[in-house]
This record gives sequence, structure tokens and C-alpha cells, in this order.
Amino acid sequence: MSSPFTRRKFIQANSVALLATQLPAGGAAAETAADPDKLAKAGGAKAVKAKPGRRVRWDDREKQQLGSAVDQASLFYWAGGKPNQQTGLFIERFKQYCPSEHVVTCSSGTAALHIAIAAAGIGPGDEVITTPITDIGTVTGILFQQGVPVFADLGASTYNLDPASVERSITLRTKAIIAVHLTGAPCDMSALQAIAQKHNLVLIEDCAQAWGAQVRGKPVGSFGHVACYSLMDSKHICAGDGGVVASSDKRIGPALLKFSDKGNDRMAPGNAWDKTGVLATNYRMSELQAAFAAVQLQRLEGIASKRAALGRLLIEGIGNLPAVLPPRIAAADRATFWFFYFRLKLDRLKCNRAEFVEALRAEGVSCNAGYIPVPVYKLPYFQQHSFFAGRWPIKELGLTAMDYTKVKCPEAEAILSTGIQMPLHEAMDEALIRESAAAIRKVAKAYTT
Ligand SMILES: Cc1ncc(COP(=O)(O)O)c(C=O)c1O
Repeated sequence: MSSPFTRRKFIQANSVALLATQLPAGGAAAETAADPDKLAKAGGAKAVKAKPGRRVRWDDREKQQLGSAVDQASLFYWAGGKPNQQTGLFIERFKQYCPSEHVVTCSSGTAALHIAIAAAGIGPGDEVITTPITDIGTVTGILFQQGVPVFADLGASTYNLDPASVERSITLRTKAIIAVHLTGAPCDMSALQAIAQKHNLVLIEDCAQAWGAQVRGKPVGSFGHVACYSLMDSKHICAGDGGVVASSDKRIGPALLKFSDKGNDRMAPGNAWDKTGVLATNYRMSELQAAFAAVQLQRLEGIASKRAALGRLLIEGIGNLPAVLPPRIAAADRATFWFFYFRLKLDRLKCNRAEFVEALRAEGVSCNAGYIPVPVYKLPYFQQHSFFAGRWPIKELGLTAMDYTKVKCPEAEAILSTGIQMPLHEAMDEALIRESAAAIRKVAKAYTT
């Protein structure tokens, strides 16, 4: 069979290409070289040429550990008064990562938070202060325990709880604070610890997005009374789904297990679930997930340190732009960037956010406008107070006067309406991050007034 692409055509095609590279300046390439500021969306050269590497999130090590679990006689987390093998291994490694006396594996980050809230004794009408920019899993546990989520406002460039707003939100009914380390950036834990101590509040850390993040060298989760982590598939490390809740607090720690396992404390001698007096659902994690997660924990430091370094580099690359507000991470802290989020100062731009995103994408930057569509208090079941079959019993009973239609957190709303989200992960390299920063600088320069 003869090739459709003859030797003569090959020589012709390549000669034309070769000639083109040797032509005097004047073509599109020359124009680009002469005008590096020309936006890719207007025909200029793309700022980003590097591509992210392929993330290898698990491999033979997880397979091998799963294999050892499959060889066991039972895949239940408990084995006669102590954790079963895989759960025990995970707990041991988690304790090395985030030292805590009581560590309980569970089915999700949402479960971890519900367990924490229940173990903290949150009951009907009790108020829990948290952020309006988070996954709904942060607040479902409060609502299911008949507590009242109270939303405080956020720092403009930390996207985390503003301690002053938290303090202003405290009432006689406040029982706890849930600090969410959004995007993997640590909250101001010293300030939140001081507030919790002053007002005798339970401080819960939602570390779902912040595996490996540190405050002054210590992992997030070691500052509050309870730490909650998620092992959902998209997190830094995962088990497909899963969660961990941990505490060294004498009041809360011993109660965690009961609230994860229908009232059972199977580790306690003579456990009798019908005598604990605790109504709780089943949030157990199986040995298969624990086996997988135990290996994932060994990958964590590599993932966290790489993301932390890339994120810092990106922040440096977009600092000092009049129309861009990069995230602010305290010098002594380590953010691990579940994703990267920065804001636009729209009053300094002659484009809107959608146009900025479109221009960035044309430059080769993967990005999206915003994060969650609205602050949590604007969700319909908050606005209608209709959490349980269209009703909210504690409001009907007068146990709370909360009216979510009146809640307003201006900075949180501005963070959502002016922010741009970019993926950032450990398979990226410095070249890609430097080019991404150059793309943001280029687009910002083109549109800054
Ligand atoms: C901040 C935060 N809290 C809680 C959760 C809930 O975790 P899960 O999906 O494992 O229930 C998530 C999940 O994305 C989260 O990002």
C-alpha cells in the first residue's frame, strides 16, 4: 500500500516550514515578540506553556495494604476491645501526624463534624459560630443536634473567620466555634483560642481542606478542643470517602466513639450500648478504608510541602498588583492549598470578573470564578427556615430567634463575588506556577485602569 504522504510532499511541506522560520520579521510571531503584553484572547502568545504532571494519588503500596486487609477474617473496625489491625495502624499514624489522645475513624468529614458537635454536648437552641463560606458538611451536624449555626464574617484576604466578628457574634447561647481552615490556609488560631477561653466555648477545627497545614510548626487540629478531617476523594489524601475526629479534651475525647457508632463504646470494658444513654447514628469506617488511608498518611508530608511551596511562589508572583488581592498567609504558618484563591479589586479594573477569567483561560490558566455560589446562610432552607420537612422545630418552639433572612456578612459576600479559583497540586512544578503568575500579571496589566 502506498503512503498518501509522498516523499516529495514531505520535502515541500518541511521546506515551507523551514522558510517561514527564516523569514524577516513581520508575521504574527514577530508581532507577538514585539508585543509580549498582547492578550492571548486577542491573538497574542499564551503566557502558560508548561503543563501539570499527572497526579499519582495511589499505587502498589495502597494495593498491598488493601490486600493485607482482605486477608483478615473481619473488615470491621473493632476487634474485641481494641481497634482492628488497619484501623489501629491508621490511628497510630494519625497520632504521629496530629498528636491526640482520642482518635476515631468515621465515614466522612461531615460525620466527623457531627460527632464533634454531639460529643461537645451541643443541644436545642445552642449557638455555634462558624463561617458562611464552607462546605455544607460544616453545619449539618449543628442542625441535626438542633443547634443554631451563627455566621460570622471573614478576613478580606484570609477568607477565614475574622476574630473580631466572632467576638461580636457571641451571645448567652453561644456554646462553640467551628474554625474552618478554608482552602488549606490556617485560621488565626491564637485569637480564636483566646476568645474560646475567655467565653468558655468549645473550639472545633474543621481541617477538611487543610491536611498538612501548620500554625507555627504544629498541624491544624492541635489548637482547638476537637479536630475534624475529611478523607473524601478530592482531598489532599483520601480513602474514597472517610473522616477522622480527634480530641485530647477530657470532656469530649472519650465521647467521640459513642457518637460514631450508635451509642456504643466498644473499646470500654463491659460496653453496653443500651446503657450509654446516647442517641447516635452509624458513622463507622471499615477496615478497607482505614488500610487505604493509613498508606495515604505516609504520602501526606510530600504532598503538603510541595503545595505549600508552590502556593507561596504563586502569591509572590502576583504581589504588588494594584487590581489583584492575593491570599495572605502568616509568615509562621504553612498553607497547603487545597486550591488557590485570589481576589480582584474590580474598582481598579475595566473588565468584570468573567472577562478576567476568560482572558486568563485564553492564556492557558485553568481557573473558575468564585467558589460556592452563595454564602451558606443564603441557601433556600436557611432563608425559609425549613430544615426538617419544611419546618424548623426549635424556631417554632421559641428556642431560637434566628432569622437568616437578616444575616449579612459583607466581606464573605465580596470574597465570593470577586474571587478566582485555580487548581494547585503536587504534580505541578515551579515553571507552571511562574507562568501562571505571569499570566495573571499580564491580564491584570491589560485591564487595570
Ligand atoms: C471545609 C469542609 N468541611 C467539611 C467537609 C465535608 O467533608 P465530607 O465531604 O468528607 O463529608 C468538606 C468537604 O469538602 C469541606 O471542604
